[in-house]
Amino acid sequence: MKLVNDIQALRQQVKEWRMLDLKIAFVPTMGNLHDGHLALVKSAHQYADKVIVSIFINPMQFGLSEDIDNYPKTLEQDKNRLIAQDTDLLFIPTSDIIYPKGYTDNTFVEVPNISNLYCGQSRPGHFRGVATVVCKLFNLVQPDIACFGSKDYQQLQIIQTMVDDLSMPVEIIPVEIIREDSGLAMSSRNGYLTAEERLIAPALYQTLQWLAQQIKTNRNFDELSQQAGEKINQAGLTTDYISICHAFTLAKATENDQNLVILASAFCGKARLIDNIQVNI
Ligand code: PAJ
Repeated sequence: MKLVNDIQALRQQVKEWRMLDLKIAFVPTMGNLHDGHLALVKSAHQYADKVIVSIFINPMQFGLSEDIDNYPKTLEQDKNRLIAQDTDLLFIPTSDIIYPKGYTDNTFVEVPNISNLYCGQSRPGHFRGVATVVCKLFNLVQPDIACFGSKDYQQLQIIQTMVDDLSMPVEIIPVEIIREDSGLAMSSRNGYLTAEERLIAPALYQTLQWLAQQIKTNRNFDELSQQAGEKINQAGLTTDYISICHAFTLAKATENDQNLVILASAFCGKARLIDNIQVNI
């Protein structure tokens, strides 16, 4: 696996692969890699000849109250995991390389409407930071395809919308959620959970499963969502939101919608967990 820190070396390698007519897949991450990230790398290999992974803890997507300095960093372990997955190139830029002028004065990309819902409401400016860095990374890597996890379902839809709206020449591949045995969706944030919290955290997914079952026969979405939020709270978590949505626009679902996704977020101790389940009726 080739390690690259600077833009020039990245562009040079990509150019060489392009001259050989090789197809390039890209997996952007913030590191602290787990099996969910590695599933993206595996998937990327199915679509391309060369797989590039980036690790960059993007300051622009963290709120002022969010503790970016304590974001888990496990670079040596990450490298070994990526080597084991036959990753061809790991791009690890510093913040100076990505935002030479600082990120507050940087040109930004904002996907309207969808960025302000759900996680965007709880984390103002978060998706502007995500869309901007992903756009920038796409311009640097110029991949044919890029893999994103369905775990961050809203993020995935925002990236797909950005690509469509700005005619970016990259195909977005969604990859299914990888879960722990308990059902809890794998996440770097699970590292913040205590042993006791780990026992109650799976209630988020269990409630999503319950709700997915209910909406097959009962279309009183508001009442059901409220009940689901209460169930999550009763389990000892604190519901941030739980919403039955149209699978692509993420607008609140109407009775006639058939492709649905239920999005949920809840606090479990210090960790803010997110999860979702897709339901086709
Ligand atoms: P990060 O949280 O590191 O996630 C990187 C990618 O891994 C995302 O596409 C995410 O959806 C996927 N992923 C995380 N957990 C997963 C799981 N349990 N199953 C499947 N996929 C999973 O998301 C980001 O970083 C950043 O916002 C980024 C896109 C890199 C921009 O900075």
